[in-house]
Amino acid sequence: MGVALPPQVPRRWFRRTIPLAIFALLLFYLCARSLRALSGCSSGALFCIADGPPSLQVQQESGSLEAPEREEPQCLGPQGMLGRIIKPFRASLNPEGDVELSQYLAGWRELIKFLTPFGSIFAFATGEAFTKVTALEARVHGPEAAHYKSLAAMVAWERRAGLLELPGIGPRDSTRSSGSRTALLLHRALRWSQLCLHRVATGTLGGPGAGEQCHDAYNTVLAPHHHWLVRQAVRLAFLSFPGRGRLLELACPGTREEAARAAVVRAAGTLEDVYNRTQCLLAEGGLLQLA
Ligand SMILES: *[C@@H]1O[C@H](CO)[C@@H](O)[C@H](O)[C@H]1NC(C)=O
Repeated sequence: MGVALPPQVPRRWFRRTIPLAIFALLLFYLCARSLRALSGCSSGALFCIADGPPSLQVQQESGSLEAPEREEPQCLGPQGMLGRIIKPFRASLNPEGDVELSQYLAGWRELIKFLTPFGSIFAFATGEAFTKVTALEARVHGPEAAHYKSLAAMVAWERRAGLLELPGIGPRDSTRSSGSRTALLLHRALRWSQLCLHRVATGTLGGPGAGEQCHDAYNTVLAPHHHWLVRQAVRLAFLSFPGRGRLLELACPGTREEAARAAVVRAAGTLEDVYNRTQCLLAEGGLLQLA
């Protein structure tokens, strides 16, 4: 009665937020609010098959349009860094228009391996992604595995079972997130990674550097959902972002720059295919505002 306590919600929020600011960094691949650009997916997973032209890779695999005369760099091969990312992600896109979770997560594991050496910003990002991948994997292999084979199946089941959070209200304990919410956070992280890689691979000499481009991607995809404190921390972290050359070298060691760039563009294209389909499925499920 003596001391007027501030309202409980902001207080609790603060108590959590400040000490967890670092943690927050990790959480923040959030929300591509402006990226909900999907038409033609009103209902049913089938509608989530991209209606755009097939990606370069699909064309190559079907042996049609693109005839790669030059030898493919090793990094796109089965043992290559990018090849190991592309393969499971591509395999996650099933013919029914859904996303197979086990493949999707396998793709994520490879993506994390690739992104980890890229300095603090990615270390933060991938640290959190790692937790989320692990949490989803636990469901995919858990007692309810039957409901966690694909994204659409998971969303439908979690909805039926009343496991979905209310929009904008996170669970007290983030490890208790529904699978759908965890998938949404990973989904945003994927968008960020994709934009960042694509921009780095296509950036021009004398144009913005890799750090700037990835920071732009951050600003587009994640920043709108972050507290200012976190945005400042992220801004600082981007100062130590590796240059384009180093990034290309990590992606495609020992490969000429042009070939390395093309390879990274391809990997980013695969991520975009996966992103687009996931986006469509999450939008259909009305889940984009879940976190
Ligand atoms: C992803 O969706 C966007 C928006 O609908 C579209 O412009 C883009 O071409 C799609 N990308 C791929 C790889 O299909």
